[in-house]
Amino acid sequence: MNHFELRAGELHCEDVSLARLAAEVGTPVYVYSSATLERHYTVLRDALVSAGLEAPLIAFAVKANPNLAVLRTLGRLGAGADVVSEGEVRRALAAGIPAERIVFSGVGKSEREIEFALQVGVAEINVESEPELHLVNTVAQRLGVRAQVAVRVNPDVEAGGHAKISTGKAENKFGVSFAEAERLYANASNMAGVKPVGVACHIGSQITELAPMEAAFGKMRGLVERLRGEGLSVDRLDLGGGLGVPYFNQPEPPSPEAYAQMIARAMGGLDIQFAFEPGRMIAANAGVLVAQVLHVNRRPEGRNFLVLDAAMNDLLRPAMYDAYHDIRPVTPREGAPETYDVVGPVCETGDTFTRDRPLPPLAAGDLVAFMSAGAYGAAMSSEYNSRLLVPEVLVRGGDYAVVRPRPSYDDMLERERPAPWL
Ligand code: LLP
Repeated sequence: MNHFELRAGELHCEDVSLARLAAEVGTPVYVYSSATLERHYTVLRDALVSAGLEAPLIAFAVKANPNLAVLRTLGRLGAGADVVSEGEVRRALAAGIPAERIVFSGVGKSEREIEFALQVGVAEINVESEPELHLVNTVAQRLGVRAQVAVRVNPDVEAGGHAKISTGKAENKFGVSFAEAERLYANASNMAGVKPVGVACHIGSQITELAPMEAAFGKMRGLVERLRGEGLSVDRLDLGGGLGVPYFNQPEPPSPEAYAQMIARAMGGLDIQFAFEPGRMIAANAGVLVAQVLHVNRRPEGRNFLVLDAAMNDLLRPAMYDAYHDIRPVTPREGAPETYDVVGPVCETGDTFTRDRPLPPLAAGDLVAFMSAGAYGAAMSSEYNSRLLVPEVLVRGGDYAVVRPRPSYDDMLERERPAPWL
């Protein structure tokens, strides 16, 4: 469920008309609903708690939407943060998420990043390889601290989804095998600079079936039991990212309740603190990208190009993953649907959001909303073609705030420095 709906013929985000917002802030613009963010977080938390998982740590995957206002909205409800860079640690802290709710993941953390994470006292560093474990041990000893680490396992399951975002097969770069994890965990328990506190896995993103997760989680449970059988203490089990979301034309993913019950089933009775790293299921349907139609370019051979003022630099997912986003007119017109290729102004054919999409009739000046764009939307935006970084707005009830303003062209140019010889 989300809070974007037609009211009196106009698409609204909560109580704010997107047409009014676009007139005041300009387009393209990302718009997020506080109510949807809050609802998705609480529905997940309540489902996990009702399934019997006590005090789970829900560490929002900052990569999905790093906007400080979004992080603050979730942090106030008790969310932690799953981070993959020093920048993300800094964002989580700046948004008021305490270090003890921050989990640091990622295959290639630099020495500098590990040092920073230990200095601020993050709850856990998920180590993904033996060299990384040694590096964390060395840095921690130098700082005179004991780093709490979890060993990230690659459970070697096929999770479906797009090849660029599936992570849980042995051939992917993430994590270590189960055998390796047992060895590393035992080694880590003898190191002066680290304290192994748990194990972690993440099998991929936009997963719309429970079966691959259940298979992976069953194997994780076995690992916890084997480690404990060897007399090692395992306090935390991090089950990685969340479920996929319906991008309109896809099968409806399982509900948070079904997900929570599957975990309870797979883990039945395992006494451990559970951690989760959901991004998409919390943020995707909480955001839209609003763009304006610049031209309707009707080709004599029958193709209609809808040229928007938003481009692949603002929303990369269609170009990068052939991702489908529902496109809705902000003020739908009456009339028979027409078929459009929806494109942006960037100078490459990849700047195509969709081809042959039947949509209500549209004209130059109309506004459209790309739905389900709150995760990996603004997060992956760039200034490609020297287009200004797309602004972000957070709505709450009838109020809105521009939480990342559109920069000026001077801002863009002033970031650079002349080379002394030029
Ligand atoms: N934890 C780890 C270790 C991850 O690598 C990811 C996502 C997550 C959690 C969050 O997964 P989620 O709950 O959002 O499914 N840019 C792509 C998605 C990349 C996901 C990368 N890792 C997209 O736009 O679809």
